Amino acid sequence: MKGIILAGGTGSRLYPITRVVSKQLLPVYDKPMIYFPLTNLMLSGIRDIQIITTKEHQQAFQTLLGNGHQWGINISWCVQDDPNGIAEAFILSEDFIGDDHCTLALGDNILFGNGLVGLLQSVMKPKSGATVFAYRVKDPENYGVVSFDEKGIGIDIEEKPQHPKSNYALIGLYCYDNSVVKIARDIKPTLNNEKHITDINNHYLKQGNLHVQRLGRGYAWLDAGTVESLHNAAAFVRSVESRQGIKIACPEEISWRMGYITSKDLNALAKNLMSSGYGQYLQEILLENNKKYDIVN
Ligand code: TTP
Repeated sequence: MKGIILAGGTGSRLYPITRVVSKQLLPVYDKPMIYFPLTNLMLSGIRDIQIITTKEHQQAFQTLLGNGHQWGINISWCVQDDPNGIAEAFILSEDFIGDDHCTLALGDNILFGNGLVGLLQSVMKPKSGATVFAYRVKDPENYGVVSFDEKGIGIDIEEKPQHPKSNYALIGLYCYDNSVVKIARDIKPTLNNEKHITDINNHYLKQGNLHVQRLGRGYAWLDAGTVESLHNAAAFVRSVESRQGIKIACPEEISWRMGYITSKDLNALAKNLMSSGYGQYLQEILLENNKKYDIVN
């Protein structure tokens, strides 16, 4: 399974903040936004990840994340010249996907909840068809909206409908078999040249090959695309982290817990991050888990 993070776009709903800085590099409380989709892919067990950015911002992302080897993963890079829609990701990343299945995570989506790791790992086992996730929201008209029949099976998906048939929005995490590349090629762009992910999902739906996984109250899904939602996302992360003394979406911790890096590696990463408190956190988790490595040296 390959992972793709789509981190291009214009971020116009955050202007003037995103005039010179990429939206997905903005802080969500204590870390850059892209850490959230990245760590969800890592927690799913995906280690080969391609990040699609604008040409303008690619260097900044590379400076932050490099090739991923520091966290035991492989990150490759791709440019989207124009914001031609989410579905274009599969065309841009065709070579990277190769014969594999792939999961696309949107760079500005924050997903967190108890049991998420088990759910993601079970869903992301390669199988034919597609799996998408639905989440109840107050403002479905701003999203791709899925409606269900009386048995709870997804029957219809509409892109930003004026009169939504349900309150269930599809979140920015999509898991597809390899045929997604051809489907993405074949779908027609809209008048403003965008290829919509909703058209891909409807294609699978018509084939009877779309599994819609509903996420209930135990999950938080936040998209951080507006000033208000970015602030809410930061407040949410701050509440959970300061109450529990844990970090959400910390790639260093996750790669260590997944066994991608050793305690020695984690300690070395911690040492470079001491002045913000982030490094102390990493050393604390090393101590707490009673690892044998001597963190003083
Ligand atoms: P959007 O929030 O729909 O678009 P945007 O980021 O350009 O923001 P705005 O509407 O404020 O102008 O995009 C959702 C995610 O997908 C976000 O991470 C950006 C990414 N994206 C691309 O990388 N390329 C695209 O062509 C589109 C449409 C989105």
